[in-house]
Amino acid sequence: MSDVVTMDDLSNEEILSILDDSKRLIPVARGDVHLPLLEGKVLANMFYENSTRTRMSFETAMKRLGGSVLNFTSVGTSVAKGETLYDTMQMIDGYADIAVIRHPRQGAAQYSADAVDIPILNAGDGAGNHPTQTMLDLFTIMEAHGKIQGLNVVLVGDLRYGRTVHSLSHALIRFGARLTLVSPETLTMPDEIVRDLRSTGAEISESSDLSGSIPDADVIYMTRIQKERFPDEDEYTKVAGIYTLGSKDMHGAKDEMIVMHPLPRVGELHPSLDSTPHARYFQQAFNGVPTRMALLCRGLGVTIPKEVK
Ligand code: NCD
Repeated sequence: MSDVVTMDDLSNEEILSILDDSKRLIPVARGDVHLPLLEGKVLANMFYENSTRTRMSFETAMKRLGGSVLNFTSVGTSVAKGETLYDTMQMIDGYADIAVIRHPRQGAAQYSADAVDIPILNAGDGAGNHPTQTMLDLFTIMEAHGKIQGLNVVLVGDLRYGRTVHSLSHALIRFGARLTLVSPETLTMPDEIVRDLRSTGAEISESSDLSGSIPDADVIYMTRIQKERFPDEDEYTKVAGIYTLGSKDMHGAKDEMIVMHPLPRVGELHPSLDSTPHARYFQQAFNGVPTRMALLCRGLGVTIPKEVK
């Protein structure tokens, strides 16, 4: 099946091959090489939740490969008239060759994949998963460190509601990383995920102390506290702004340590960090283009040439 709903839909071998393809696609992602592999194909970008990078990088990816894009949002469409996700997806099945979906409800991507024949790529389902983000995160780590095996990756912030870290933690463990989970007590990684990760024999430590985790980190992956997922605004206020990093926090860090963030940042990363060699979050956002190109090609059964020029 060519759906990607969770990282379990991709074998380790497929992940490595997508990362390999992504690397070769960089000049195409930048617009330096014209490679219309997806000419005549249509992508439906189905966004029931806000998005900047995910929606736009999928759109850029599709267009750079010669395809076209239908942009759907819940505002200005029949969703406002009460149309169900099931019915909307039946239309999309007829209008597009592949669909990317983001939805506030956990499980909505799987539900959509079950409802239609075209391939579905999950671009975030509530507090569930965000596997295409994981692909660009893995790519970013590989570009910086050349490997994942043995790295100490520190995941910081809202590990409870943050879907990027749910998907990423699984993938990192499969490739032999060590994880340090840093969060306030109310926002720890869900027990079932931690149990699952530990059942593989993976090395995982949990803490609420960010500064103590910096010296031994190879990657610090910061996340935003997911305000929109809190049932109670007061609970959000208690933890808002709890973890921040700036250039002054980099003194004890390893030279090659990278700071990542899926973005948007809302105060977690001080702008003073941007000009340090550790900052990798804008590069990470760009990496969404080549990795999503590779994912679109995989979904549509299109092989990327071994040499791209
Ligand atoms: C993330 C998301 O939507 O889960 N954003 C993204 O896709 N880059 C992270 C977030 O919103 O905090």
